[in-house]
Amino acid sequence: MSHDEWWRRTTVYQIYPRSYKDSTGNGIGDLPGIIEKLDYLAELGIETIWLSPIYPSPQEDHGYDISDYRNINPEYGTMADFDRMLKKAHDLGLRIVLDMVLNHSSDKHPWFIESKSSRDNPKRDWYIWRDGRKPGGKAPPNNWKAMPGGPAWRYDPGTEQWYYFHFLPFQPDLNWWNPNVQKEMYDTVRYWLDKGVDGFRLDIFHAVYQDKNFKNNPFSFRVLPSENSTASLFQNHVNDLHLPETFELARNLRKILDEYDPPRFMVGEITATPEICHKYMGGAANDGLHLTFQFNFLRCRFNARQLARQIKHNERVFMHPALPTYVYSNHDLMRIFTRVSENWDKMKVLATLQLTLRGVPFIYYGDEIGMSQVKVKLKTSEDPIGRKFWWSPIKQSKYFAFAFSRDGCRTPMQWNSEPNAGFSPDEEVKTWLRIGPKYKKVNVAIQDKNPNSLLNTYRTLLQVRRENIALQAGSFEFLHESSGALVYKRTHPEQVIIVALNFKKKRNFISLASPRLELIFSTDIKAGETDAWKTDATLNLKPYEGMILREMQSGS
Ligand code: GLC
Repeated sequence: MSHDEWWRRTTVYQIYPRSYKDSTGNGIGDLPGIIEKLDYLAELGIETIWLSPIYPSPQEDHGYDISDYRNINPEYGTMADFDRMLKKAHDLGLRIVLDMVLNHSSDKHPWFIESKSSRDNPKRDWYIWRDGRKPGGKAPPNNWKAMPGGPAWRYDPGTEQWYYFHFLPFQPDLNWWNPNVQKEMYDTVRYWLDKGVDGFRLDIFHAVYQDKNFKNNPFSFRVLPSENSTASLFQNHVNDLHLPETFELARNLRKILDEYDPPRFMVGEITATPEICHKYMGGAANDGLHLTFQFNFLRCRFNARQLARQIKHNERVFMHPALPTYVYSNHDLMRIFTRVSENWDKMKVLATLQLTLRGVPFIYYGDEIGMSQVKVKLKTSEDPIGRKFWWSPIKQSKYFAFAFSRDGCRTPMQWNSEPNAGFSPDEEVKTWLRIGPKYKKVNVAIQDKNPNSLLNTYRTLLQVRRENIALQAGSFEFLHESSGALVYKRTHPEQVIIVALNFKKKRNFISLASPRLELIFSTDIKAGETDAWKTDATLNLKPYEGMILREMQSGS
């Protein structure tokens, strides 16, 4: 493996371990299952795998509630399985990135059990405990709200104090002001780096610190969270989110990672404007988190102008040496294929866009075959958020890319048309979430054989990206933007690549200044068979066609 900043040019694939491959037949995915599928991933052509949490956990939030930071959830396997997985991945040239939840643990973590046991327990101060407001301390200590709504405090009758949680009550926040907590978590980070993991995805990183004096948050008219503001749920989160100490923490973690060779990287989950995300990356000094997620495509329709606006915003904020990321789906959001109304051609245009922009693409497992959001009942949802909002008349919104039950985007990977979609070796077992109803038509085995499938489009795109340095490291410039099409140029000293995307269901003719182009990719696999893709200096794009072109060097 090369020792340079490989992560700048990488492509990331997110695995939700419970749902990828079950090797034992209990209906739950596991690490040996992932090991079986590493060859598939290497062949797909992605380079880095991000695993959602694999540590011991009561699984109330499916791993985002950790009860032991330095072990493997026995349902998923053993540490020996983990070591085997890491070794095989590295042998195949793949990297493994773990999910690290620094903000909170499970309330079943021995630390919290101790902390809760009495006010003078040595672990008391590992979490955030406060007296309630008068009368009788029966009102929460201040007005802070949890991310999914409601007070962020839970009363403990045993010790007659309240503890703070930013997400759900079984996920108490760790007290990062306590040097023992800091030391423990830094050591945990080192523990996994010493084992050889290639980096971390940092869960709700912006929430790690809170105001030491527990000041109330000021009022805001804003209800829904958004990337454009730090306000939501009628308050401006100035005292519970984005504290200066959290930006400092980003720099401290960077220092730790910088000690390691080959280089490692971190990507932060931060719900904020691109400008704030950039600040977490160290701003101009570039000494914070290597990357942060940009979720700004989520509010975009299949609309060239809207997407262009977001790309330009990212290009402005994440100027070199910073890099943006591009995310269509993840384990919290509605699947992209559902958001494009299950239109294969549109999906191919979006895949071409994601893999040719300047930035690191994050592909969610199953998006490469067009898995859909599966409809689930809120009341019986596995996801606690679904159960919390069981009464809601609105279950999901394509516009906001959210579904109240996140089960719908977490269903088992669809490997083949056999019962249980080849996810589990036991065809009769009830899988932990039901298999998507379309699995007989939408699966890896079927798409593998079809050269025109979405899976093969992803494979080709990933290969084209790997083979063309301008797509990995070139600068970015728009050549044409309209409501119907986007054309942009990626320039690297060694080559120039042009990408043209037709967002309309009709032909589109776009003239280009550079006529000396060769077609190296089209979403229409037959496009290269004739010269019809171009007339002199005009590109002839078919409905919903995406093309990648290379400028021919003079003399070639
Ligand atoms: C993040 C995770 C989400 C989890 C929450 C609490 O937003 O992506 O799945 O439920 O944090 O850890």
